[in-house]
Amino acid sequence: MKVTISDAVKYIGVDDRDIDLFESQYVVPNGVSYNSYLILDEKIAVMDTVDARKTAEWETNLKAELGGRKPDYLVISHLEPDHAGSIACLLSLYPEITLVGNAKTFQMLPQFMAVNPDTQMITVKEGDTLSLGTHTLSFYMAPMVHWPEVMVTYESSEKILFSADGFGKFGALDTDEDWACEARRYYFNIVGKYGMPVQALLKKAAGLDIAVICPLHGPILKEDLGYYVNLYQTWSSYTPENKGVLIAVASIHGNTAKAAKKLEQLLIEKGEEKVVVSDLARDDMAEVIEDAFRYDRMILAASSYDAGVFPCMQDFLHHLKAKAYQKRTVGILENGSWAPSAGKTMKAILETMTNVTLLEPMVTIRSTLKEENMADLEALADAIIAAGK
Ligand code: FEO
Repeated sequence: MKVTISDAVKYIGVDDRDIDLFESQYVVPNGVSYNSYLILDEKIAVMDTVDARKTAEWETNLKAELGGRKPDYLVISHLEPDHAGSIACLLSLYPEITLVGNAKTFQMLPQFMAVNPDTQMITVKEGDTLSLGTHTLSFYMAPMVHWPEVMVTYESSEKILFSADGFGKFGALDTDEDWACEARRYYFNIVGKYGMPVQALLKKAAGLDIAVICPLHGPILKEDLGYYVNLYQTWSSYTPENKGVLIAVASIHGNTAKAAKKLEQLLIEKGEEKVVVSDLARDDMAEVIEDAFRYDRMILAASSYDAGVFPCMQDFLHHLKAKAYQKRTVGILENGSWAPSAGKTMKAILETMTNVTLLEPMVTIRSTLKEENMADLEALADAIIAAGK
């Protein structure tokens, strides 16, 4: 797709609509873009490469924009193969190019590819600059956003921040869809664990005069940058973005799901404005994780299984723990036919998380929801509504 940035800064990235699972785990119904850029000046800098899946297309874009010139530098902001997968190709085309990275970049690079000892490298550290002519690059370290070697680059003449994975989004560039929806799913599932490092990067970015953000995935951001920065502040500080209740359901035969539906109905009747019900056995897990972070409250509704909890719920909680789920209120609805074990299993996992408020008592149903359970269900609905006030 043709993307215009400026006369000197060219988009040479590619869309990938063929990939089945991004990072072998995330469904991307509208694909994903691997963004790469070229800065044309007295010296020419390539800003990252693309996944090896799309090297040929990227090479075509690169050569078209180079117009017969040779690039002087490759700035490597992130070594993950979705961006570094075509470095070997670039080096074979232009062996005299100089790689620009930090100490960690060059420590890790040989893990991914054989590096010719003659390859020229410039090792940069925080605040170092590199002049291309009228364009000047400054480098800022962004460790763990989302690997340890990540750095971002600021180009001062056009006020462009090359933000690595930060401000990235699923979806090919020719996809017409809401930015926040797929950027949020991307953020919490990929960068979500690293809230503190993202906050540190936002502090550095606040000291720069930024007009354009060029991320490694998703659209180039040119307008209303405060909107995106504010969302990143919210997300990286683990602050709930919206009031609402996610009911995450792990139901074997549908009876736990029926109880969860009843709870949804009660919440709506009692005035809760936003209730989202997700089926952990069937829905996209990454989407449910996104919603868990999006809303301020959550109900876990799960069947007992093998003296524990139905596996998709175990898996969900494992993800939440890994992504540092916090600052939320959670209620529990368990189902068990002879020895209910889902509740205590979920509670034990939640208790390992910091700053998660557990609503007591949990609701227990035996096989199916019955009239005798309704008082407990009402009490849970009232408690979760009260927690949102
Ligand atoms: Fe888009 Fe962390 O790679």
